[in-house]
Amino acid sequence: MSFAPGHITIQRYLLLSAGIFIMAWGCKKDQISFAGPETITFQKPAHFPEPVYNFENNPLTREGFELGRKLFYEPLLSANGKVSCGSCHHQSAGFSDQGKAFSIGVDNRPGMRNSPALANLAWYPAFMADGGVNHIEVMPLAPITDTLEMHEDLAQVLQKLQQHPDYPALFEKAFGSDSITSKHFLYSLAQFMSMMVSANSKFDRFLQDKAILSPAEQRGYELFKINCAHCHTGALTSDFSYRNNGLDIYSEDAGRARITLKEEDHGKFKVPSLRNVALSTPYMHDGRFESLQEVINHYSEGIQATTNLDPSLAPMHFSEEEKADLVLFLTTLTDEEYTQHTELSDPSVLR
Ligand code: HEC
Ligand code: HEC
Repeated sequence: MSFAPGHITIQRYLLLSAGIFIMAWGCKKDQISFAGPETITFQKPAHFPEPVYNFENNPLTREGFELGRKLFYEPLLSANGKVSCGSCHHQSAGFSDQGKAFSIGVDNRPGMRNSPALANLAWYPAFMADGGVNHIEVMPLAPITDTLEMHEDLAQVLQKLQQHPDYPALFEKAFGSDSITSKHFLYSLAQFMSMMVSANSKFDRFLQDKAILSPAEQRGYELFKINCAHCHTGALTSDFSYRNNGLDIYSEDAGRARITLKEEDHGKFKVPSLRNVALSTPYMHDGRFESLQEVINHYSEGIQATTNLDPSLAPMHFSEEEKADLVLFLTTLTDEEYTQHTELSDPSVLR
């Protein structure tokens, strides 16, 4: 799923309109916290950098968030009324589509890329493996209009919601008008997506001196810092740059070059976040690796001298013990509070 370069201008416009960032974060706590049934606040985890998205034009409210949450799990967003965002982004799998290399869209056809785990989206400067979407407020347009995903157009979606018995009143409560506009639709989804904060894995607690890693995890972390962290950086585990990590001599998927049209970007992909990575099998843009062991084997022996290979990469030749330690370290990024948080779950399913 990705926008053709021609669409970028719309996104640029929205980006520019995002304006300057002035915001009081409220009290600083370390996890997602929904202050109670009435109110809701976005709290930057103390060990995270400043987020990219600041709600400046879209003040976060309980009603706006709940509407976005309902819409995320709403199959009416698709042409056949069967596929919701949650169909390809399962909370229990860190909001990935665990076990599927390519997700299945409305026409029972596989998509173009592997469905990634979603977390900490308010910190993303760009979305998709090629960075083809550059603002969280327009992000839903890509899957909705993608013929291999929801294959619907926005006007149809808005019309279906307008005719629904519940939605007009929910939009009224959230945005003060029961006439459903694309702006309010996108704002509510942006509110939900921004609240998808994963910041309470063992790795997070370790970064805050609240947990200690086992000796094997610690060894894995030392290897990770030396070999991986210049790309999978910091608490977000990504520097959000576009790199080629040596998968194919010539990548079938042009990656970043789909957007920039530059040969030097061919086969480069956004460095993915590794949050909840143990839950988001299979791996890479095309889901080619079934397990974390296979991923580590790739970095250890499989890196090829590909077109545009990142200059920092060459086969890393880990011992078997080092490979196992790295896998153990990666599992410390699993955040069960996040994958089980009832506030992020499908509101139509009673738990
Ligand atoms: C048919 C499966 C499918 C559906 C439905 C779907 N997605 Fe996705 N989603 C994907 C795939 C595949 C990608 C990766 C696309 C790419 O990188 O080009 C993705 C990427 C994303 C990303 C970017 C993640 C990143 O790492 O940059 C976000 C955010 C997202 N989806 C949110 C949504 C929302 C919101 C909806 C509903 C409006 C939705 N998705 C519906 C499969 C799906
Ligand atoms: C030069 C930058 C770079 C370095 C160094 C690097 N990676 Fe990556 N990594 C990437 C890119 C880019 C991708 C996405 C490639 C794709 O989607 O095809 C990726 C993908 C991954 C994935 C798959 C994530 C998913 O959800 O599909 C894992 C796991 C991973 N890397 C772990 C590691 C580990 C462990 C190391 C160190 C041993 C490492 N990486 C070193 C750039 C890097």
